[in-house]
Amino acid sequence: MLRRSLALLLVTALAFTSALVAQDRRDVSGDLGVVASSSPDASDLGAAIMERGGNAVDAAIATAFAMAVTHPTAGNIGGGGFMLIYPDDGSPPVFIDYREKAPLSSTPDMYAEGGSRKTHRYVGVPGTVRGLALAHEIYGSLSWKQLVEPAVKLAAEGFVMNEGLARSLSGALRSSSNEEFMRVYGKKDGSAWQAGDRLKLPDLAATLQRIADHGRDGFYKGKTAELFAAEMERGGGYVTREDLARYRARVRVPIRFSYRGYEIFSAPPPSSGGITLAQMLQILELYDLRAMGRWSSETNHLIIEAMRRGYANRAQYLGDTDFVDIPDFLTSKDFAKELAESIDPQQATASEKLGPPIAMAGESRETTHFSVVDRRGMAVSNTYTLEAGYGSGVVVTGAGFLLNNEMGDFNPQPGVTNRRGTIGTPANLIVPEKRMLSSMTPTIVAKAGRPYLVTGSPGGRTIINTVLCVVINVLDFEMDLRDAIDAPRTDHEWFPERVRFMGAADAAHAEMVKELQTIGHEIQPSRGQGDANSILLTGDGARATADSRWGGAAAAKK
Ligand code: GLY
Repeated sequence: MLRRSLALLLVTALAFTSALVAQDRRDVSGDLGVVASSSPDASDLGAAIMERGGNAVDAAIATAFAMAVTHPTAGNIGGGGFMLIYPDDGSPPVFIDYREKAPLSSTPDMYAEGGSRKTHRYVGVPGTVRGLALAHEIYGSLSWKQLVEPAVKLAAEGFVMNEGLARSLSGALRSSSNEEFMRVYGKKDGSAWQAGDRLKLPDLAATLQRIADHGRDGFYKGKTAELFAAEMERGGGYVTREDLARYRARVRVPIRFSYRGYEIFSAPPPSSGGITLAQMLQILELYDLRAMGRWSSETNHLIIEAMRRGYANRAQYLGDTDFVDIPDFLTSKDFAKELAESIDPQQATASEKLGPPIAMAGESRETTHFSVVDRRGMAVSNTYTLEAGYGSGVVVTGAGFLLNNEMGDFNPQPGVTNRRGTIGTPANLIVPEKRMLSSMTPTIVAKAGRPYLVTGSPGGRTIINTVLCVVINVLDFEMDLRDAIDAPRTDHEWFPERVRFMGAADAAHAEMVKELQTIGHEIQPSRGQGDANSILLTGDGARATADSRWGGAAAAKK
């Protein structure tokens, strides 16, 4: 109540007195509220919500709904994700878990036969609308309608595509056999989308209007739920109206640990992100990385070995804590010390030494992350996803939104584990209403009790390693945020037993790569890793920095 009254006062004081900052859209500074996302329209909309007096959670909700329109590869109402909130009133950070769940009729071996994941069969029960509604219930200051209606307008009037979306959507349409996807997202004359084309989504606008009018019931009940269930029946999917009605988002306590005097908050299970990040960083904390240098083989050997150990334990222990017990020692300093002692400074460890090859679900590299900070210092780190790009590729007929294929994040074959990276450990096997293990790692680093770095990334299993790289670039090497985001990233996931390094082909890193190969690391070049739209708060104010992969943008209120 108090929040709402304060917000109303702010609306009156600030209404329409400010304009968006126009400068290089990838880097924006400002004290009054900033957003960094993969969608320029959505970042603008988040900033506009703060101009109307909204706080960071309001802006995040509006940004998320806008991205369900403008970033269909991962922005969504038919998927799920996680929102980490750092309040401005001294209360501890809160984590909203809106991860999808397994339908009631699921069984552990329902995908043992394999087959395409781009089908109705892989759709999990979506959590996004419930998650955003829960965040609004706890922290919202503007009305729900004010946050959803800008997305209704974007969908109804259309938005202009950038090069990245035009190319990616045209590719997805070429390989799709889903008629509704082609009807809703295809160009009327059947040609490929071009940068500058306008995409209108009238069915999605009508669904978003139902959500604006009826809150979460506009999605989980009534017409949207009917259309959803009918789509599932038509295509052999498992999600029913009962599944939709039973879905609940959860408030959870974030993973919290210290790193070189900073406090880090990150994603708890059902994400593997926070626990794995804590383990890897606390191993690295035992070494003076700064003295060794960011691009020395010594530092990068340690980073790779920390990743190898973090991902081995991820595979062995992690799953949805509503269904499995996860040992506390995984995030302790003592365990990190034990893991560090097993690292040979002169030689790569054989991954098999850390446990038998275990096969994990192959997570797709899509998903999207955005960060928001408002004028009072409230911070939001949000990562959400449809799993693969455009999810299952199934659009709910008549409702205009894409459905996830998140069921592919469960371990698909009980007991089957292999060197290619499939995992069959019990912690992440399918159980009705269980949440599938995620790698999404929305993270906030705090300094002296205030947010300092807000970050996260898409990228499937690579997400946690992307966040690790950004965090050490900023905290250990004091890089400017732009440099920290642009720096080449490293990825090792225990199995497959190879390092992907974005700088592998650069002459500047040739010597380091050679030295790493000499001590037993297989280094492969990678085309790209992650899209870490982040915010850094310093004495000079907040700096929002968009990554480059998706042509994202930062926006500020002034
Ligand atoms: N589907 C990507 C993730 O949850 O990490």
